[in-house]
Amino acid sequence: MRRVFPRHRRFERAMNIDELAAIARRRLPNFVYEYIEGGSDDEVSLANNRAIFERYRFTPRTLTDVSQRSLTCQVLGREIAMPLIIAPTGFNGMITRDGDMKLARMAAKWRIPFTLSNASTTALEEIATFTESWNWMQIYFYRDRDYVEKLMARCEAAGFDTLVITTDSAIYGNREWDARNYTRPLVLDWYNKLHTLTRPGWIKDVLYPNGVPTFQNLGDLLPPGETSVQGAAAAIGRHLMPSLSWAEMRWLRQRWPGKLLIKGILSVEEARQASAEGIDGIVLSNHGGRQLDSSVSPMELVAEVRAAVGDAMTLLLDGGFRRGSDALKARLLGADAVMLGRATLYGLGAGGEPGVDHALRLLHAELDRDLGLLGCSKLEELDDSLMREAR
Ligand SMILES: Cc1cc2nc3c(=O)[nH]c(=O)nc-3n(C[C@H](O)[C@H](O)[C@H](O)COP(=O)(O)O)c2cc1C
Repeated sequence: MRRVFPRHRRFERAMNIDELAAIARRRLPNFVYEYIEGGSDDEVSLANNRAIFERYRFTPRTLTDVSQRSLTCQVLGREIAMPLIIAPTGFNGMITRDGDMKLARMAAKWRIPFTLSNASTTALEEIATFTESWNWMQIYFYRDRDYVEKLMARCEAAGFDTLVITTDSAIYGNREWDARNYTRPLVLDWYNKLHTLTRPGWIKDVLYPNGVPTFQNLGDLLPPGETSVQGAAAAIGRHLMPSLSWAEMRWLRQRWPGKLLIKGILSVEEARQASAEGIDGIVLSNHGGRQLDSSVSPMELVAEVRAAVGDAMTLLLDGGFRRGSDALKARLLGADAVMLGRATLYGLGAGGEPGVDHALRLLHAELDRDLGLLGCSKLEELDDSLMREAR
């Protein structure tokens, strides 16, 4: 019996992440929900990111003492409370007011890292004041190195110690579902304008009184007065660097004294090279199925990449993680931890900050229960004998 969607709108009663998604859909305007949900082209990668988990089956141990369990693990030399990290997602302020702060606060509560997107509606300095959480900063690489340099200086001054460079988006993916909602770039069509009027709670929360939230970390990349979505989207498109290569990664490595991660790798060869170039960690990612469609799911690669880079490199992945068991499967294949994109955004859309709390509580409970059901007391006890590929 699968996917019994809730008839109620109360996020507190959601049994799992899929139910939070269904509740978020009822609370958000259509165009916002589709912005979260959509993938590129025919959404083959998006679908495969979920389908792939069914390929792996557990072979648990039953006669072990699992009365005391711990989900802690090490990422980049620090202990986190469970193998989850909140992935960078742009424009969170469109889901709920101060969406980034709400995610960061709940990441702190659950003692996991939060990654602020370069395309976020909260200034990185504001997130940095929130020192209870371990905040990471994601940046795209732009044609103007001066701008990248200034952004890095802002990050360093604000006290960020971890940068995540996203390399899969130098060309913007073809998100038809998203584009269909607009008559011109970022001008909603009539259906969406009318649909938005059916969400007065969202209008009050997000648009009242200052209108559409603006981008706060794009600085002088945007012409004066162009922090609007329209201005920013056009500016990002103009400034992204399609000739991005290892030369830029080396340049970053020389300048950034903290931890450096590359997000968007989908090739064993590039993973190996990242390790050779002194990059601290990689995030295997197909951008949640939003960039190159039909690209491999990170879960299909993780074991091979771990074998290629060895144990020293931090290995993360994302794409389709909606259950605690999904993250355990990734650990069993060699990942240190996984990133959550939509899972926590559904919580944010369904119930704001307490909704994110609920999403993380569900995942924590699933991780804890499934770890015990596998016959393990801690993540380090997970080994190859506990999972096989379906025949
Ligand atoms: C609404 C949305 C916005 C995103 N924005 C960014 C971004 O600004 N920077 C980035 O590196 N990745 C971005 N991503 C990709 C996520 O970081 C992550 O790779 C992806 O969501 C993982 O898949 P999942 O949503 O199935 O968990 C975004 C994803 C979504 C769903």
